Amino acid sequence: MKSTAMRTHMCGELNESHIGTTISVCGWVGRRREHGEKLAFVDLRDHSGIIQCVVDNDVDVRSEYVVRITGVVRARPDGTINTSLSTGKVEVGECVVEVLNSAEPPPFPVDQRADDVDEAVRLKYRYLDIRRERMQKNLRVRAKVNSAIRGAMEENGFLEVETPLLMPSTPEGAREFLVPSRKEHGSFFALPQSPQLWKQLLMVSGVDRYYQIAKCLRDEDLRADRQYEFMQLDAEMSFVSQDDVLEFIGRAVVAAAKAVTGEAPPTIERITWREAMERFGSDKPDLRFGMELVELTSLFSSTEFKAFAGAECIKGIRVDAVTYPEAAAYGRNKLDALTDRAKKAGAKGLVWMKVGADSAVESPVAKFLSDAERIALVSTMGAIEGDLILLVADDWTTTVEVLGTLRNDIGRPPVHEGPYRYVWVTEFPLFIGVDPVTGNPRPGHHPFCHPHPEDLHLFENEPLKVRALAYDLVLNGWELGSGSIRIHEPELQRRVFNRLGITDEEADKRFGFFLQPFKYGAPPHGGFAFGIDRLTAILAGEENIREVIAFPKTQSGSDPMTNAPTPVEPAHLADLGLRLLPPPATA
Ligand code: AMO
Ligand code: AMP
Repeated sequence: MKSTAMRTHMCGELNESHIGTTISVCGWVGRRREHGEKLAFVDLRDHSGIIQCVVDNDVDVRSEYVVRITGVVRARPDGTINTSLSTGKVEVGECVVEVLNSAEPPPFPVDQRADDVDEAVRLKYRYLDIRRERMQKNLRVRAKVNSAIRGAMEENGFLEVETPLLMPSTPEGAREFLVPSRKEHGSFFALPQSPQLWKQLLMVSGVDRYYQIAKCLRDEDLRADRQYEFMQLDAEMSFVSQDDVLEFIGRAVVAAAKAVTGEAPPTIERITWREAMERFGSDKPDLRFGMELVELTSLFSSTEFKAFAGAECIKGIRVDAVTYPEAAAYGRNKLDALTDRAKKAGAKGLVWMKVGADSAVESPVAKFLSDAERIALVSTMGAIEGDLILLVADDWTTTVEVLGTLRNDIGRPPVHEGPYRYVWVTEFPLFIGVDPVTGNPRPGHHPFCHPHPEDLHLFENEPLKVRALAYDLVLNGWELGSGSIRIHEPELQRRVFNRLGITDEEADKRFGFFLQPFKYGAPPHGGFAFGIDRLTAILAGEENIREVIAFPKTQSGSDPMTNAPTPVEPAHLADLGLRLLPPPATA
């Protein structure tokens, strides 16, 4: 029911079917235009839209005044119809205007023109910014996403359980926010990076299928897809395979996407981590565009070119002159910039080749290539005249990651553009890289991911080849979420800890509160969490999650509206047993 004691309709719902009806609408005054000497057009706005009201010129209403207007809906005269407004064929006449509150002139226009206003100003006056159509729409997209997710999870038998915000420090990737204890000076709670610990305990408790739309907190550098506080759909389930988890989470994502776009449910593709790295040079492959990496190692097996001879892996990408017409005309500056970028990403160098007619190539290294190598290269790359080929030779990881970086830099459209391409990336490595000091492998995600049962024999001697039952969901090159089947067997957990260089005693000390419950009958279980802010931003057509969060922090991590974070009184600190160090000396 939209009507209240004060209004009969929302501004945006009025149309030709209301002509002749007396209505009351409430809202904020937008633009006002004089119409002759006696009359003025006033745009009245609420979250549903704008309606044009024709009022007496002597009515004193200004921008952002809060008013109630009662009048009669009538057709706009021919030639004054506004097709860009849902209410554009009608207006309200015979208006009685009641000013409910006046307003100071707003610091920026409360319409789409504020998109160009400095973000710090928008955030300082966020309550006004949210009055705008864009923000109203985004908050509604977000609510739809949440509601569709809840519906899908409930339908599939998941139980919503709330978990604590005050908890001990846990071993997930990011830096934690700490909360000092007033009762135990020197001790701290940590705010949850995610409910990971709790949800696994709930599996031990027999909850079977848990979900929560959970607030998570991480003290990390902020970016377009990162805030200190963010929301996850967090889920965990017992007696499941990886496929079961992907199926249930997929249903929630599909329901959310469908609720927002109204389109047919998107398909979620699947790719293994290795294939994603081989083809796209990224564990978050953006499938909306080509430029796939092409394997060339064997082609250069007996090359004269020093930089390529003996390389573990040589790959190339083709910048296609049809899709990227600048490719052929890439000048020296642009090519040097690409080389710098490749080096920053870890490459020793970058070979570029411009392809001419009849497989001719222009390149600083053309003279080192035999005719056979040149012709094979152009044909393996599928290149034609006008294309640009970029080559890297290095170890496998460096080669694919550098080319993946260049591929994204050159070809990637804004995240919300074009078709939505959802993809599960499966079989992440259990360990990534080696600690240079201890020589032990490092956990790929967290130390509770279940190793792939087929790879257990590699565990001791070739740990970096062990796959995990761990998976990510990626949309248009953004990581939406991650999950895994967890280790529920204490013996296997001990093996993983030991492989990471964590002794039994250390494991008990650091994770005892987590490991102890697993001794009392932990079921096989697995789960997933995806970022609601990220999914919402993409579905809302935004490039930054700040645009879909009511009160976000700036990129530098503050809130210009409340000025948080703020200093606190020394007495407050003393109560918590804290004293500040002098600020570090600046060099
Ligand atoms: P992970 O750390 O990968 O996994 O986080 C899951 C998803 O949460 C979102 N996310 C963020 N969104 C906004 N700002 C941030 N700072 C931020 N950090 C993460 C991302 C990410 O993919 N407990 C595990 C999940 C599991 O194994 O079940 C976890 O939290 O969309
Ligand atoms: P150099 O032999 O170091 O003078 O390099 C000759 C060209 O090969 C330069 O354009 C380098 O950027 C490039 N280059 C050197 N090493 C590599 C490599 N490992 N992969 C790709 N290009 C390289």
